[in-house]
Formats: sequence, C-alpha cells, structure tokens
Amino acid sequence: MKDQLNQLHQEARLAITEAPDLEALEALRIEYMGKKGKLSAILGGMGKLSVEERPVIGALANQIKNEFEEQLQERKAALEEAKLSVQLAAEAIDVTMPGVYIPQGRVHPILGTIDRINDIFVGLGYSPATGPEVETEYYNFEALNTPADHPARDMQDTLYLPNGQLLRTHTSSIQIRYMEENEPPFRMICSGRVFRRDAVDASHYPIFHQLEVLAVDEDITFTDLKGTLTVFLEELLGERPVRFRPSFFPFTEPSMEVDIWWESKSGGRWLEVLGAGMVDPNVFKSVGYDPEKVQGFAAGLGIERLAMLLYGIDDIRLLYNSDQRFLKQF
Ligand code: PHE
Repeated sequence: MKDQLNQLHQEARLAITEAPDLEALEALRIEYMGKKGKLSAILGGMGKLSVEERPVIGALANQIKNEFEEQLQERKAALEEAKLSVQLAAEAIDVTMPGVYIPQGRVHPILGTIDRINDIFVGLGYSPATGPEVETEYYNFEALNTPADHPARDMQDTLYLPNGQLLRTHTSSIQIRYMEENEPPFRMICSGRVFRRDAVDASHYPIFHQLEVLAVDEDITFTDLKGTLTVFLEELLGERPVRFRPSFFPFTEPSMEVDIWWESKSGGRWLEVLGAGMVDPNVFKSVGYDPEKVQGFAAGLGIERLAMLLYGIDDIRLLYNSDQRFLKQF
C-alpha cells in the first residue's frame, strides 16, 4: 500500500505540473483527493492492515494530501497570474498609435480683429450698429456731403449695380442711417464689408472691411477724437510709431488720416489704417440735427490693415485665399 501511495503521489505531482488551466486543476483535485477519488480508493484497503502499519500509512496519506494541496495552490497561483497577464496584454493601450484627429475651428484674423476692436470701443461706452451692403447713392454719398459732381467721388471707384444702387464704398453710409433713427448724444460703432474697384496688391483688395466710429454730443472737440484714437490704437497694438496726418473727406472738417509704422520683410513703411475727422455741419443738416447745437467726430478704420499689423501678416491677399496652412496659425 505504501508503494501504491507513493506511485499515486508521483502521478498526481506530474499531472498538476501539466494541468493546462484552472478547470483542469479542479478536475485533478476531484480525481485524486475527492471523496470518491484515487486516494480514498487506496485508503479503502486500510482495514486489512496490521495495527502497527495503520498509523504509518495514515501519516503517509496525510503527508501526500498536504503536499498535493500545496502543489495545487502553487500551480493555481501560477495559472492565475498567466491568465491575468494574457488579459492585460489583450487590453493594453498602445500609446504609440496615432490619435484621432479632430479638426478645430478657428476665428479668422479679420473677425478676430473686429472682435478686439469692438471690445475696446464697447469698453469706452460705444454701442454696436449695422447697415446694408447694397446702398443708394444717397446714403453712400449725397447725405455725406458728396454730391454727384463732387470730385471726391473719383477717390473711390464705386461698383454700381444695374438697378442704380451700389455696393457701399465705406461704412460711413451707416452714419446717416443711424442718425436718422437716433437722437444725440450717442456713441456708435459698426463694421462690415465694403467694396471698391481697387487693383489688387499687397495692401489693396476690392472687398475689405471697415469699422466706423461715430460720437455725437454737445462740446465734442478734435482733442476728444485724437485722444480716443490714441487710447484705442495703444490698446489694440501696444506702443507703436503713429502719425496723424491732415487729410480731406467731404463728410468731415477738419479731417486726418492715421498711419502706423509697418515693419515687413521688405523693409518698413507707413501704413494708413484709418481716416477720421469732425463731422461736417452739412452731414448733420442732412439728418435734421442742428449743427449749432451738436458736434461729433467720426472715424473709419481699415480692418485688414489693422489685422496685418496685429498679426504680422505682410500681404493682404493671404486673408482671402482660404489657405489652411495660413489660417491654422491663428
Ligand atoms: N469713409 C472714409 C473712407 O472710407 C473713412 C472715414 C470715415 C473718414 C469717417 C472720416 C470719417 O476712406
């Protein structure tokens, strides 16, 4: 019986080391150590043993049982660990895989510039307004002290529509529409596209954007205009060389233009960024204001020029060709 037990021990030991998985291991446990297992079957013959032999065989059987149990646990732990590492390998994330590219929308530099300018003027107490792109000669010229035979009409090459209307050449037309609807005092800004028959070059494009500023009140002076523009330009562009230059517009008197020094690859030059002046009394008359009672200043800012300065863009055409390589930089 001793031999039988030792043989069983060896057989079980081998079977355990070869068990391929946890299920097989459990089957082995039942096969060898279960109530009706192989060990029980051998021990069933204990009754035939002598009184001296019984405790010896009993002790051996116990030892075998304990060792079997120990081996089983060891193998079980090894199998569980192997199972876990297979699972971990299967579920592992490969951090070197390329990610899913989600394109991100961006604000176009023209709109970004308008937003920033709006913020500054709203902060100074100005209210935003709007007006149409298709205009009549009245709002674009006549009410702005620019009659048909006025030489200033040649300054702006106008795009006329077949029905006699035109594409506004500046946002100053909104001045008139706004004043017809509102009474002073007020501070107004408005922006949008304007259209001119300009030849295209690095700083000209036939469609561009302007932002109009109009303040009407009692006792507004040229100093207020200059102060407002100085504060605005410094707020938008930081400290830069600025040049205030006398100029002419039919709807302002006196008038000026403002240039900012533009450092570009091809060297520096002055870039005209806005026209401005004190509202001409004739403009007030055309909207029914009394020029003896109210004064005002107006300015028209060139958005593209300011965007070029703000973002360091050295060719206005880049703003219109929708090149993703360019646009993604903003
Ligand atoms: N409308 C003028 C232009 O387009 C700019 C301007 C606006 C000048 C308001 C004076 C006052 O050139």
